[in-house]
Amino acid sequence: MSKSFLGPLNHVGVAVPDIHIAIGFYKKVLEVKDITDPVDLPSQGVTYSFVNLPSGQVELIQPYGKNSPILKFLNKNPKGGQHHICFEVVDIFKASEEMKKKGMRVLNEPRIGAHGTLVVFLHPGDSGGVLIELMETPLKTF
Ligand code: CO
Repeated sequence: MSKSFLGPLNHVGVAVPDIHIAIGFYKKVLEVKDITDPVDLPSQGVTYSFVNLPSGQVELIQPYGKNSPILKFLNKNPKGGQHHICFEVVDIFKASEEMKKKGMRVLNEPRIGAHGTLVVFLHPGDSGGVLIELMETPLKTF
């Protein structure tokens, strides 16, 4: 039996204009207890927090710096919105090549993402309007 290409859905990325307001919403209104403090990731132009849920995470991302890749999205969606979905793969380099072979536009060379593992993004124009992040499965720490 062949192993499926995609591993678990890891997280849903949500772009927000103000990460502290967003964290307040998840805490107070949705009553989520486990939310990580915001961390700046200058190499990706975002500040992020993880909303930890039993089934996975919501990744809150706020622009960091003038060249943030999510500024354009927030200009179009000033209140923020669902920005990308992230699936795990076993080997990011193999996955990236496989996607290119299938005609997908892979937007970057594998680079370290917010979870500390390598990620690539696939052009939403090739995937039904959804920006897809592929991420190498993190080593489980339990
Ligand atoms: Co992400």
